[in-house]
Amino acid sequence: MAQQKKEELELTEAQIAVHWKEEEYYHPSAKFIGQANASDPDIFERFSEKNFPECFKEYADLLSWDQYWHTTLDTSNPPFWKWFVGGKLNACYNCVDRHLEKNKNKAAFIWVPELENETTETITYQELYVRVNEFAALLRDFCGVKAGDRVTFHLPMVPALPVSMLACARLGVIHSQVFGGFSGAACGGRIADSGSHILVTMDAYYRNGELLDQKIKADEAVEVAAKDGVRVDKVLVWRRYAGKYSSPTPMVEGRDYFVDDLFKKYRGERVDPVSMPAEAPLFMMYTSGTTAKPKGCQHSTGGYLAYVAGTSKYYQDIHPEDVYWCFADIGWITGHSYIVYGPLALCATSVTYEGVPTYPDAGRAWRIAERLGVNIFHTAPTTIRMLRKAGPEEPKKYNYHFKHMTTVGEPIEPEVWRWYHQVVGKGEAVIVDTWWQTENGGFLGSTLPALQPMKPGSCGPGVLGIYPVIYDEERNQLNAGSGKAGNICIRNPWPGIFQTIWGDPERFVKTYYEKYCKNKNSKDWRDWPYFAGDGATQAADGYFRILGRVDDVINVAGHRLGTKELEAAALTVEEVAEAAVVPTIDELRGRIPEMYVALKPGYNPGKGVEEKVKDAIDKLIGKVARPRNVWLVPDMPKTRSGKIMRRVIAAVSNFMDVGDVTTLANPEVVETIRRMVQAEKARRGEIPKDLSKEMIEEIKRFGAVE
Ligand code: WT7
Repeated sequence: MAQQKKEELELTEAQIAVHWKEEEYYHPSAKFIGQANASDPDIFERFSEKNFPECFKEYADLLSWDQYWHTTLDTSNPPFWKWFVGGKLNACYNCVDRHLEKNKNKAAFIWVPELENETTETITYQELYVRVNEFAALLRDFCGVKAGDRVTFHLPMVPALPVSMLACARLGVIHSQVFGGFSGAACGGRIADSGSHILVTMDAYYRNGELLDQKIKADEAVEVAAKDGVRVDKVLVWRRYAGKYSSPTPMVEGRDYFVDDLFKKYRGERVDPVSMPAEAPLFMMYTSGTTAKPKGCQHSTGGYLAYVAGTSKYYQDIHPEDVYWCFADIGWITGHSYIVYGPLALCATSVTYEGVPTYPDAGRAWRIAERLGVNIFHTAPTTIRMLRKAGPEEPKKYNYHFKHMTTVGEPIEPEVWRWYHQVVGKGEAVIVDTWWQTENGGFLGSTLPALQPMKPGSCGPGVLGIYPVIYDEERNQLNAGSGKAGNICIRNPWPGIFQTIWGDPERFVKTYYEKYCKNKNSKDWRDWPYFAGDGATQAADGYFRILGRVDDVINVAGHRLGTKELEAAALTVEEVAEAAVVPTIDELRGRIPEMYVALKPGYNPGKGVEEKVKDAIDKLIGKVARPRNVWLVPDMPKTRSGKIMRRVIAAVSNFMDVGDVTTLANPEVVETIRRMVQAEKARRGEIPKDLSKEMIEEIKRFGAVE
């Protein structure tokens, strides 16, 4: 008890308690090092701070410029940085045309339909060139769009998506893809915000073996956009099977058109790529907001493309001969940067897959890898956990070999990391854990795979040319090895950083720069650290461990506990597949954590799992973090991108309104969990009373994806 008191005194509100134990390093094989794009440590010197910003010329030189740039970084209007000023280029030309001379017959995309009996579609660079040109001609001549206009897509994981993106890029039109799984209303709000008058969608697509109607959402989207004052003139509908309409939703005369019908008129059309200034917007991507208004992150052409090409080369280690599979949805920034723009700029072959990881069974991903000879595999912890839960022994049955694997999207628990390494990677593949955000364009924290060892659960140091720092709430710098956690910031601008929030530059400055700006009048980038909104700690070796969004902390008797470390502790229990922790309001201790866990299949819930989880937390973190309850649930409420919605379970645990759950991937699970948990809590006399307005607000904010 005395010990606990002392700890409480030492931790200020501003700090998040850190209890992680240091993990062992893992090293790349000699074979990997021998072939890596970055294997000479000289590279660290080239990208050292004294060479900033000129170091990024190396990335810009991976591109073909119509007009070479004269100024690397223009800081005259902070924090609206401009990269490669004076330069002109076309992103589509860089991803397609320039590869034709030597590689027109090479696969740009290999698309795998979800139904296993349907044939894989291989799209060569030549074929991609043809489709992109025809669609660009259609957009220009039929829709009348021109450089600077916005076009919204609401497309699933089909070849039409990258084709549509590149066609817009060819014209200098700004594309705005809304994740295909989002509702029509969500799409409509984003159409209105971006001021698009054209919507590109699809009739239907496969998910979990079911042909889902996508077109129906277009009608709602158009209606919602109209209410917000933006009229959609044309809805272009790609068809899952050309010539055959697979949606029961009627087409609207004079508004809706089948792309394959229109194409007949544009056969063989060619469109000159429009030469765009480096700082012209290439696309926008909305951050996944379910509470606050989503932010349209506007990305540039030259800086963005240079940054994703450079990081794909060095961190993804993509060589032209690799078979690269980023198992993510193109509807997220990961897909834009590391399925489409980065790999294509390097003339790589990018595998894409229509469906879910476990359809028809947990071996699907490994069969795809085996069949196509995938050797670079990129996915998110949620997929890794899902595949581990559904088939922990499955990868062993297939004869594939990865040289390289990535994890992205949220912190990965060391337990899960080790399964990924040993079972999925067969102990042969390097892993890069890449920390970044929609706003960032490309990686911010990671290890350079041949040159820096891996450490489970840590993303690594800042990537080349990125200089992170951790500040506490009082703006003190927390040094490496301090054992303290704070807010991770990036001290410098980089070419991939977004340019602004579409239509809301004030919110851009306020959200990302105000908190740690040293001098608002300064034109020196050193005065404008970028506030990422993530909690992090830096070990003595310089590696960062990301603890999650700064809002996701649970304050128990003055200890700010990072949700992720509690969840990682729960995952050390053998039976546990997934864990999520939320705060419950307690009169005495402020907040008490409550843990939700899902078990691996075949494990029996009756066998004291709850006690085991509590004990693991006692042991790995301390009694202060011991959850009051551990609920065994069939599944966690998740966003379509697989993030566990802690906000929703926090509301359940505190008997509050769960809010809008319609954008979740599995809304039905919410009610199941609510009934079970609340009945049991009522029985145990744990219904909270007299919640203050502040408390209610705090729980509402908790885990909300901003
Ligand atoms: C938030 C950004 C970047 C593409 C996918 C997500 C968390 C992301 C990691 C990682 C720990 C991570 C952060 C970040 N995050 N990658 N490797 N380790 N946390 O993009 O939807 O914009 O989410 O995801 O909290 O702020 P996003």
